[in-house]
Amino acid sequence: MSNRVYIFDTTLRDGEQSPGCSMTTPEKLRMAKSLVELGVDILEAGFPIASDGDFEAVRAVSAEYNWVQVAALARATKIDIERAAQSLDKARRPRIHTFIATSDIHLKYKFNKSRQQILEEAAAAVELARSYVEDVEFSAEDATRTDADYLEEVCRAVVAAGARTVNLPDTVGWSVPHEYGALIGRMVKALGDRAILSVHCHDDLGLAVANSIAAVQAGARQIECTINGIGERAGNCSLEEVVCAMKVRNDQLPFQTGIATEHLYPASKLLSSMITFGPQPNKAIVGENAFAHEAGIHQDGYLKHKSTYEIIEPSHVGVPESRLVLGKHSGRHALQQRCSDLGYPLNKEQLGEVYRRFTALADTKKGVRNEEIVDIIQQVTNQAVLKTAAD
Ligand code: KIV
Ligand code: ZN
Repeated sequence: MSNRVYIFDTTLRDGEQSPGCSMTTPEKLRMAKSLVELGVDILEAGFPIASDGDFEAVRAVSAEYNWVQVAALARATKIDIERAAQSLDKARRPRIHTFIATSDIHLKYKFNKSRQQILEEAAAAVELARSYVEDVEFSAEDATRTDADYLEEVCRAVVAAGARTVNLPDTVGWSVPHEYGALIGRMVKALGDRAILSVHCHDDLGLAVANSIAAVQAGARQIECTINGIGERAGNCSLEEVVCAMKVRNDQLPFQTGIATEHLYPASKLLSSMITFGPQPNKAIVGENAFAHEAGIHQDGYLKHKSTYEIIEPSHVGVPESRLVLGKHSGRHALQQRCSDLGYPLNKEQLGEVYRRFTALADTKKGVRNEEIVDIIQQVTNQAVLKTAAD
């Protein structure tokens, strides 16, 4: 089995359908450009039956980036699949992604249908989608709360009907890594090389990335994820985190993706500028503090050698530079470096006094700005000049 893992980006579909994240077609086109530069393998551009805007967006993205595999989502119904097929009429590499829920909870409360009915509808949907396009993905929504024997039957049926990719979503973020890995391993064994096993994890328990990785270790070869981890409720598996985990810890996770990681931070920034929120400051890889150091011990270690406190070179993920944040936890070493960067190389005595005044100020606030540091330096150095003149 090859160790190449396909990255299926659903920022423009699962991400876009979450609160505060809707995008217009021009915005989706700008984001698609960024995703294409990033090197995603499959770009899910929308859910065409959901609205005319979604339909137009899928059409526009698949026409503009027609060398990329573009997916359109469709429930397992004729009307959805036909609409998805229409939206992809200009695509050179169209994929119809059709789904139906398979868990007893959904069967009972959403559909009031039997397992056999759902299995037949799933297979029929895949067959219909295959009449329009070669590349059909089937998702068993709420797969992780589905009876595993029944899920295996569904997987076999949709592959027999022509699905090339079978996605087993952890729709409600219910699974834990070893459990999800075991489920995926079982289905990989059942399907062999007749289909690619895909994973789609939600982050309700903060386990979406860990679950996706466990699934890849068990044989999945497609990960569905989003920039900044946006998506329904707590979001989807974060693209930047899962890709960097496999890149940085390739010794433990020997898998490859086609992602050009230096485009990650720009993609994250672009997305944040188009939706109503950005990633939290301490978000891995793309958060504003992901490469910031404030504690004196860390700053001192970092200034001696970056590897003491950084496992990723910022430029490798497109972050311009690391930051030494000066606050009450900072030490002399970092302050001296900052004074020198600001154009004030200080002698030992001056640094001692600047540091004393700096910590007194820092104790009263969340952080100290460069202008405030310059003020302190000027007070201290002017006093020193006055003192020398008086002597
Ligand atoms: O979370 C989910 O189950 C989905 C499917 C439609 C793939 O988003
Ligand atoms: Zn989802």
